[in-house]
Amino acid sequence: MDKEKFRKYGYELIDWVADYLEKAEKYPVKSTVQPGEIKSKLPPSPPVHPEEMDQVLEDFHKIIMPGITHWQHPGWFAYFPSNNSPASILGELLSAGLGTQGMVWQTSPAATELEEVVMDWLRQMIGLPEGYAGVIQDTASTATLCALLAARERATGFEVNEVGFSQALRVYASREAHSSVEKGVKIAGFGKKNLVYIPVDDEFALIPGELERAIENDLRAGLKPVCVVATVGTTSSGAVDPLKPIGEICRKYGLWLHVDAAYAGTAAILPEKRWALEGADYADSLVFNPHKWMLTNFDCSAFFVKDPQVLTRTFEIHPEYLKTGVDAVVKNYRDWGIQLGRRFRALKLWFVLRSYGLEGIKKIIRRHIHLAELFRDELQQDRRYEILAPVYFSLVCFRFNDGRPEEELNRFNQQLLEAVNATGRVFMTHTTLNGKYTIRLVVGQRTTEERHVRQALEIIKQKTAELLQF
Ligand SMILES: Cc1ncc(COP(=O)(O)O)c(C=O)c1O
Repeated sequence: MDKEKFRKYGYELIDWVADYLEKAEKYPVKSTVQPGEIKSKLPPSPPVHPEEMDQVLEDFHKIIMPGITHWQHPGWFAYFPSNNSPASILGELLSAGLGTQGMVWQTSPAATELEEVVMDWLRQMIGLPEGYAGVIQDTASTATLCALLAARERATGFEVNEVGFSQALRVYASREAHSSVEKGVKIAGFGKKNLVYIPVDDEFALIPGELERAIENDLRAGLKPVCVVATVGTTSSGAVDPLKPIGEICRKYGLWLHVDAAYAGTAAILPEKRWALEGADYADSLVFNPHKWMLTNFDCSAFFVKDPQVLTRTFEIHPEYLKTGVDAVVKNYRDWGIQLGRRFRALKLWFVLRSYGLEGIKKIIRRHIHLAELFRDELQQDRRYEILAPVYFSLVCFRFNDGRPEEELNRFNQQLLEAVNATGRVFMTHTTLNGKYTIRLVVGQRTTEERHVRQALEIIKQKTAELLQF
């Protein structure tokens, strides 16, 4: 593609994305294609000869777009958000244009140094004390795996890296912890059996006394406790594990404390939500995702560590071909995680932070929390809807409950969710809480306004009435 064509299609696509962001609402939120439908429209073998970009774009609109689920739709209330913003898209465009790769400082000094600076801005924004050092990981799953590996190495004097496991090492997390903890435990070689799930209280938060009891049991059995993963903003219900008492237990027994604040960490930029991270200063590591709720397009996960030397000693490698003359005085982020090659993600984060400013981001997060509270309050006006967990952030867990037996309620709420989503105007997902089928509504899209939340309420009530007629 020559420069003029690149320019032509570039302008065209920026126009298209600008319109898309404004008009995402016209699409059904969740793609309606059937499994295999998109694949059946694509050739099984690669193109042999060059094709015109017009043709590629035509197929994009015709074949790909119907298979897109629209995460940027204002009716997106599913999972957790993965919101983006014009500023972040422009940062991403430049990053792709530069095509730079920041594996070591000299492969783009600006990529490394901008990352150091924006990560320290984020540290200040969420109120982590000075001294924590940040690195951008692709996802919270990767960050948690890195924490588990560093915890493993610190606990064994870096022995597992050298000779492998010589004893069972134990990891603790609440039974509401995200599945990425189990995945990390498996990948890091602890073995799934060595992940100890700790009971939770009525609000789905880890019970510190139960944690201490589990650690004591393990010590008596000759097992070695190594790491606790605490969650701030659990995936199912938004619960907050109490970091301070958990941190004190970790300190007492010399365990690594990793805090998974993937979704709710962003809320800590608000003074009124800072309580959620109270005790985070006990943490050896913490992760939160600007790619969830901070307007930065996927992927961008902010990972902080108290002692970066443990992390870099866990991951460091020194092949001759990567040595540079400045290694003693710069950060080489290749040693801060799993991958060698690294995308220039700091650029889009920098664009977002400068374009919105702290106050601009706070305003959006406050609006989302307010809309979630409004949804909860309005839904509760009808006594047949039950709120199943406290609403600390922007996630509301609810179900319809007219007193019929639990099994029937589970079936009814599942049908309700399917009917609501089939409208194409909103998209919510589910979980189970104490065995109850639970509908989750999360507000987190940049463009979601009160009218979208009211529309969600209307749809829920209308579909409930329709189902009750059968
Ligand atoms: C609490 C929590 N931790 C971790 C993750 C995994 O996030 P990622 O997709 O960045 O790996 C999620 C995803 O929703 C989450 O809710």
